[in-house]
Parts: sequence; structure tokens; C-alpha cells
Amino acid sequence: MGSKVVSHLDPVALDRAAEILGNGGVVALPTETVYGLGASIDSPSGIRRVFAVKDRPLTHPLIVHGASHEVLDDVAVDVSASARRLAPQVWPGPVSILLLRSDRVSPVVTGGRDTVVVRVPAHSFFRDLVKKLGCPIAAPSANRFGRVSPTSAGHVQDDLGSDVDLIVDGGSSVVGVESTILDMTTDPPQILRHGGVPVEDLEPLVGCSIVEPRGSSRAPGMLASHYAPRCRIHTVETKDAALELLATFDPSTTGLLATPSEVSLFAAQLYDLLRSCDDKGWHHGVVVLPPPVGLGRAIRDRLSKASASPS
Ligand code: TXA
Ligand code: MG
Repeated sequence: MGSKVVSHLDPVALDRAAEILGNGGVVALPTETVYGLGASIDSPSGIRRVFAVKDRPLTHPLIVHGASHEVLDDVAVDVSASARRLAPQVWPGPVSILLLRSDRVSPVVTGGRDTVVVRVPAHSFFRDLVKKLGCPIAAPSANRFGRVSPTSAGHVQDDLGSDVDLIVDGGSSVVGVESTILDMTTDPPQILRHGGVPVEDLEPLVGCSIVEPRGSSRAPGMLASHYAPRCRIHTVETKDAALELLATFDPSTTGLLATPSEVSLFAAQLYDLLRSCDDKGWHHGVVVLPPPVGLGRAIRDRLSKASASPS
């Protein structure tokens, strides 16, 4: 069997990945946020395999990735003026926009919903692949459902290695947390998931305030327990509280996560730190949360989900 991992710099990588996707296969792909498990939106069998490999319920929709902001009119209808204004300002980049789905996108991709979430990733290999394939790529994070997202090819190999057709190694994901998801079918837009671009940076670009979702959320998959390692994660607000809590556990199977004080580095290392708790055989990991501003919001969100009891 040929190697499943290919560098994004390997001259055969693009052709190989495009051929696999064109034939209904699944390829793990680098993005600036986390690695994605990609399938062509034109391949129902590829899309079904993504759900099967991830063990993901069929009602949890996938994000559709394009090569440029022109993807908006391909996959969505009734695109609001504010979405049209925002997209070219934030793409390529870690912002995903929820809009009404066009007929171009099968309901299999969107979990039967009449909406689609779309973004243009910053990793150039991903965009080149969309262009080569001639079709947007649906890609959830390349981890088993409910587990920690991957930010390196090695993480994907550990989790899904035997079940994917190819892993493209594009280096470590520089942002490290998933994209921010905005519902732009509403006015004002609603924040469905805090992520790689903080809301306070998006508000000037959309020209209004962005609000928390009202009523029943349009985004499924926002489960309380998610992004969870096997080790039990405990979140605290201060170093003193961490030391107090650490003293109550067996020191041989407990540790403090060594989180950087710079918040973008914290985000970039977050999932690797969570994974390392399991690698070290810890039963308990204690982490001091960053303040709830900027990227700190996304980090707090992921850590609160990682600390909810795993199933
Ligand atoms: O940064 C990211 O967004 C990464 C990379 C690979 O692009 N992708 C990612 O996908 O995080 P995933 O599947 O792990 O998370 C996507 C979230 C899920 O909670 C899903 O339910 C929600 O987006 N979502 C996708 N399409 C939706 C739709 N049509 N309506 C509501 N929620 C949707
Ligand atoms: Mg995910």
C-alpha cells in the first residue's frame, strides 16, 4: 500500500487528491483552523463516507468550502447585501457564513436543512484543490465525532488513519480553533460558533452588532460535550484556583496544562495540549481559562465543551 500521507509540497499531491475526490473518496486536508475530512459535494457516496468515517449523525450538516467568494452564488440563494460585503473582506480565512442553500448543494451535505454554511479556507492547497476538482468540497473537522479536532497530519493519522484514502500534510494549523460561524439569514447576524475571527473584529466589517442566537439554534452539533479528550478537563479562572484544585488530585495522574499567555498561541496549541493529556496518561487536567475577549471566547467555548463529561 502506498503511503497515505503526502506533503502538500509534493508535486503529485494535488492530482492524487483531486482524483480520489472525483472518484467518491475522502481526503484529509489542511486548513488554517483544523484539518478537514473532505469529499466532493457532487459525490453522494463520498459525502456518506465522511459521515461514516466520523461516526457523525446524518443530521449534522457539513461546511462547504470554495476557492473564492464566488462560491456564494454557487451554493447559496438570497445572499444578503451584508453577506456579500463581508465575504471578500474575510475570505480566505476562518469565517463561515450560513445562508439559504441553492439546489447545487444536496441536502445530504446539509443534514436535510434548507441552509448551507460556506467558507473559503486560507490554506492555498485546499483552494487549489477546489479549483482542480472544479467543485466545492464539504469538510467537517477530521476527528471522530465528539473527540478533539486535529491540527496536524499526525493527529489525523492517529484518529482516522486507516479509514481515509489520503492525508495531505500541510503543516500545523496556524489558527488552531475552528472557524467563526455567522448566521447571515438574520438581521442583525447571529453568532452560531465563536472561532478564529473574534466577533468584535467582524462587527465593523458587517457594519452592525452581531447578536447571540435567539430561540432554537440554527446550528446543530453544538453539543455540551465535544472536543473532549479521555482525560477529565477542569477549567478555572485563575492560577491560584488551579493550584488549589491540583492539590486535591493524585499528582501522578494529574497535571496543569502549560498554556501560553499570548492568546493566539494558546489557540494554536489548544488541541495539541488536550491530546497531550491523554498521551501522558493523565486522569485529570487543569487549565486556566483566558479572559472572555477576542480569541479567548473561542478558546473558552472549546474548553467548556472539553470539560463537560464525555459520553
Ligand atoms: O474551521 C472549520 O470550520 C473547520 C474546517 C475543516 O473548515 N470545519 C468544521 O466543521 O469545524 P465541523 O463539521 O466540525 O463543524 C461545523 C459546524 C457543525 O456544528 C455543524 O452542525 C454546523 O457547523 N453547520 C454546518 N452546516 C450547517 C447548516 N447548514 N446549518 C446549521 N449548522 C451547520
Ligand atoms: Mg468538528
